[in-house]
Amino acid sequence: MKNPDAFKKVAVIGCGFIGYSWGVVFARNGLAVSMYNRKSKTLDTVKDRMKEALEFLRDEGMIEAHAVRESLDRITVTHDPEEAVRDADYIQECLWEDLELKREMFERLTAIVPADVPIGSSCSGLRITDIASRVKHHPERCIVAHPTNPPHLIPFMEISGDNASEEVKRTVYRFMESLGQKPILCKEVYGYVLNRIQLSLIQEALYLVKEGICNVEAVERALTDGLGLRWAFTGPYGVEELNSASLEEGLEKYKDYMIEFFMNQQKKLADYDEAFIKKAAAEFKPLMNGKSHDEYLKWRDKMVIRTRMLKRNNP
Ligand SMILES: NC(=O)c1ccc[n+]([C@@H]2O[C@H](COP(=O)([O-])OP(=O)(O)OC[C@H]3O[C@@H](n4cnc5c(N)ncnc54)[C@H](O)[C@@H]3O)[C@@H](O)[C@H]2O)c1
Repeated sequence: MKNPDAFKKVAVIGCGFIGYSWGVVFARNGLAVSMYNRKSKTLDTVKDRMKEALEFLRDEGMIEAHAVRESLDRITVTHDPEEAVRDADYIQECLWEDLELKREMFERLTAIVPADVPIGSSCSGLRITDIASRVKHHPERCIVAHPTNPPHLIPFMEISGDNASEEVKRTVYRFMESLGQKPILCKEVYGYVLNRIQLSLIQEALYLVKEGICNVEAVERALTDGLGLRWAFTGPYGVEELNSASLEEGLEKYKDYMIEFFMNQQKKLADYDEAFIKKAAAEFKPLMNGKSHDEYLKWRDKMVIRTRMLKRNNP
């Protein structure tokens, strides 16, 4: 396996929300990037979206002004997957979350690229063992490289693959670290780590509103005025450490309270219908303070990058 310090070119397979953002991560770190998508408006406009993202990073002081043009010069766009992966040292797959689609692409790409090229899937819930089930040429280089949306702003990511080689996982881990991403390793499990935590929270957020216990605004504020302020700096274990004299004491002290909730109080939300979706959307809209969806997204991105700066300056 090649040393990741020697990687020069990356192919990104799929140019949607995640693909374009991965492309920005690779290009701004000095790598040549080949962006592949089937013929579509997404493909035609991907470089514009990447330019906008690079300019945003420049405006927020994350990259130098000259890095915008230099990064853009390293990006090529194609609707031919074979051309995209030619001479690539690493491949990041970002197609729709569709097992058959990803299976076909992994089978096709592994047949043409050298055995020492790792292929990471951005898949959120699918298992890489299933995605790589038809790969005949070195399936051990196929892994999960699941980002947080959007990876050019939020660095956390998961590397997984129960049948992947340790060498591949180590190589991609080091590669991602060298790009400024913050990888973790975990076993293959539905949803991996971040989404399992997030889904538990979303489940409760839906339950509280569906049962009329509180409204959408209350749930949003519990996070944005409450938990979220801590969570950018301490996770749940850190919170328990600080809620008591120590983590040991916190876990001991609150055990009965927590187990009572897990076992008896936490109700599962089995389903929700269209009427609930409409009601939630109507309650949420005023919380955007008159911003359009795009304006709300830009504002969120700005706040995220400023929080990252704060963290960077206070390690
Ligand atoms: N959006 C998120 O929040 C998020 C976060 C982490 C991981 N992911 C994962 O990243 C992957 C991509 O998600 P996304 O949100 O970018 O989706 P998306 O719909 O924005 O992009 C998918 C892209 O795949 C392209 N595509 C679909 N079929 C194709 C084909 N046959 N040939 C070529 N291109 C094809 C589409 O044209 C589209 O541009 C998924 O596996 C998803 O689970 C998404």
